[in-house]
Amino acid sequence: MIDSSRPEAAPTAHGTRHTAQDIIGQMIEAKAILAPMSGITDVPYRLLSRKFGCRFAFTEMIDINGVIYNNRKTFSLLERLPLDRPLGIQLVGQDEDKFLKVAKICEDKGFPVLDINAGCPARKVVSPGKGSALMKNPTKLAGIVRKLVKGLTIPVTVKIRSGWDADNQNYLEAAKVVESEGASAICIHPRTKEQMYKGKADHDITREIKEAVKIPVFASGNIFKAEDAVNILEQTDCDGVYVARGALGHPWIFNQINSALFEGTSAPDPDFDQIKKVMIEHFTLYSKFYEEKRLVTRMYKHIAWYLKGRKNLNEIMIEYRKCDNLEDFQKFVERLTLEERNRLEIT
Ligand SMILES: Cc1cc2nc3c(=O)[nH]c(=O)nc-3n(C[C@H](O)[C@H](O)[C@H](O)COP(=O)(O)O)c2cc1C
Repeated sequence: MIDSSRPEAAPTAHGTRHTAQDIIGQMIEAKAILAPMSGITDVPYRLLSRKFGCRFAFTEMIDINGVIYNNRKTFSLLERLPLDRPLGIQLVGQDEDKFLKVAKICEDKGFPVLDINAGCPARKVVSPGKGSALMKNPTKLAGIVRKLVKGLTIPVTVKIRSGWDADNQNYLEAAKVVESEGASAICIHPRTKEQMYKGKADHDITREIKEAVKIPVFASGNIFKAEDAVNILEQTDCDGVYVARGALGHPWIFNQINSALFEGTSAPDPDFDQIKKVMIEHFTLYSKFYEEKRLVTRMYKHIAWYLKGRKNLNEIMIEYRKCDNLEDFQKFVERLTLEERNRLEIT
């Protein structure tokens, strides 16, 4: 069990002023951090996660080119609401100078910590040399970290993978390079770029990195239940964990992890009626941030995640598609029942 009694950073005339130590300290205290997830960790999703005990979150990765070229959609990802803090920002890119230019914009907007994405395996990201392509080019990664650490006052963190593929697992080199260039923390997702999200996340690697560097190390990968977080923290002695797919359709995982870590108790999963309430709460939050015409499509994957593993899901999702707005959705949820043997019915 962990003692969580550390005070918050002191507020100043400009809001809360964060030194590298105190914001990284807040990440360590939070223990379970909402991981950056592209297309998922938007403002309403982060607000929902916070309602369920998330104490620190990251934006999804934001492409520096979108900011440089004034892309309206990219700029909207820089939104930061008072209720949605502490919030770190993650950038993905490859050009040092552009990186710093965009990072300064983020700093001016008040983000207290900036993360460099060196892990995204998507082809469109890797082909131009961004994301996990940086694992193949530690010199370039070092250059970006150095430039940002010198040019910013907020701390810089880096999220890495174990390497490019099974034959090129240079995580120790990457972690040491990042540390020596002044990064304030590392998050390791111990899978290679080639593995994408498949196979085991090898947290022996997390432990090796934790033993090799002095800066805080966070672990990402296969945290689907509270016990996973407890076990990985114990196994690796790392400073905290990033929760990613484990939060999809299970935003209450943060409360469960907090109960396990800070109180030594286990919080049960909600029953189906409670899940229905969360679905409505989630949809209502989204309706405040997205136009009605985008709402049902944007929420589709989340609804499928809430109902994952139930029999009859395809039929139910066809019904869901008939919703046009929040009112329709509320009626859809009211009509939904969970029958015997995990079968969903709609009346
Ligand atoms: C849909 C999705 C989007 C993701 N987007 C990002 C991203 O924008 N930046 C990033 O660093 N990692 C991203 N990731 C990786 C996660 O942050 C995390 O490292 C990875 O999923 C491993 O954790 P898990 O096994 O617990 O899901 C994404 C993962 C998923 C599933």
